[in-house]
Amino acid sequence: MSAPWWQSAVVYQIYPRSFADADHDGVGDLQGIRARLDHLAWLGVDAIWLSPFYRSPMADFGYDVSDYCDVDPLFGTLADFDALVADAHERDIKVIVDWVPNHTSDQHPWFQDARSSRQAEKRDWYVWREPTADGAPPNNWIQTWTEDGPTWTLDPATDQWYLHLFLPEQPDLNWRNPEVVAAMHDVLRFWLDRGVDGFRMDVLHALGKDPDLVDDDPAMLPIPHSALNHHESTYEIVRGLRSVLEEYDGDRMMVGEVFLLDTALVASYYDGGQGLHLAFNFPPLFTPWDAGLWRYRIDEVVREIEPQGWPSWVLSNHDQPRHRTRYGSEARARAAAVLLLGLRGTPFLYAGEELGLEDAAVPEDRIVDPGGRDGCRAPIPWDAAADHGWGVEDPWLPWPPDATTRNVASLVADEGSIVHLYRELLAERKGSPALQVGEQVLLDAPDGVLAWDRTDGHDARRVLVNFTDDAVPVADLADGWIVAVTSDGRPLVDQLGPDQAVVLRRA
Ligand code: GLC
Repeated sequence: MSAPWWQSAVVYQIYPRSFADADHDGVGDLQGIRARLDHLAWLGVDAIWLSPFYRSPMADFGYDVSDYCDVDPLFGTLADFDALVADAHERDIKVIVDWVPNHTSDQHPWFQDARSSRQAEKRDWYVWREPTADGAPPNNWIQTWTEDGPTWTLDPATDQWYLHLFLPEQPDLNWRNPEVVAAMHDVLRFWLDRGVDGFRMDVLHALGKDPDLVDDDPAMLPIPHSALNHHESTYEIVRGLRSVLEEYDGDRMMVGEVFLLDTALVASYYDGGQGLHLAFNFPPLFTPWDAGLWRYRIDEVVREIEPQGWPSWVLSNHDQPRHRTRYGSEARARAAAVLLLGLRGTPFLYAGEELGLEDAAVPEDRIVDPGGRDGCRAPIPWDAAADHGWGVEDPWLPWPPDATTRNVASLVADEGSIVHLYRELLAERKGSPALQVGEQVLLDAPDGVLAWDRTDGHDARRVLVNFTDDAVPVADLADGWIVAVTSDGRPLVDQLGPDQAVVLRRA
């Protein structure tokens, strides 16, 4: 049986606000994305994941949904969405949408009803608790993006606390209530019926909650509860989601955001083939540019994830500083691309990493995100003009550094640029079952270098990554192989250059 598409695919994350702006209001939109699909086809991505574009008051820029089944007018219309899916599919690009099941917006009609009275029809769709005698919140859980803020807000109208792992504007749904489960399944069907190929599921590990809402271990504070919540009831919820996807043909896929910094726990959400198809495993994303530390993370994935399911790899997204910024140089960002696209598992790219973008420096008076994540969400510069293809010179966030030279048009015109490296790597993968789905064997290598083979039948590739600032001799490892792709365009003559990485083919 051939592997499902999502195992061999390279997925490209689009943050719609920041990708491309067709109506020139300074905020990206669906028509903007549609107009740039040819760039993505040229790059060679197999699928796009769209961060939320649903109706939202934008307290968390779309991760606070007030209507799961409509497009926010800021981004366009359902007809725009349908046209985007059709155009993407025409180019053999799959479409994955974000599904935000842990919480709604406080403006969602469900919550508006729920908070209207203790007897409201949808009261139990959310999580409520009586006030305590001393006026303290019901437990010690810490709200995300705060040091000590509680995950509870006392709602004066009905004098009970409601739970919100994130902002007060993002009340948590009560997944113990079967009506919530049914309603959210219908949301999946709504998008599956429109032809989406899968879902990225937001903070999936947080859906099942301890019914007694027991305190977090004080030793773990002030880690926000959203990064600690792990409850066995979530497995059944995930199986239910999988069965909805299986009502449809065509290998519809779900990738869960499992923001638990424990790879064994992340693995458990694959649930031996009954749970997630893919789970984001974030420990590697938080791993510094160091061969030994990366070796540890790769071994951990092989040990914990592989027995459960197919791994995924990600270095950047809309929640963390870009890896170009974290690792500190373009040379490292280039080598990291070889690492990401050479490992066994589905790679997720974040729009702009193929340009080597750094986070924007956001002046204090331009900060808009309550979670301090504006820098990695800077708009994509499409060309060298002052408006960088946006029709406005000053979009919702400042441009990333060097946008006059570091933009799509300028880099595409420069054959040695990082965008060509990504394109070459994607083409190399597409032509190589070994890179896409092959076995992976880590090899002995000099200090500071990681080396591994990928093999599928007669097809083989070898990947070498130098994590150090020095040249390292690798003649033995390269003997009998020829260079397919190098991270910096330099040939490989017996040694890897500083922060150089290569993909080799059998000679
Ligand atoms: C996830 C999203 C993040 C969002 C949060 C709440 O972590 O990736 O952007 O703010 O969930 O929905």
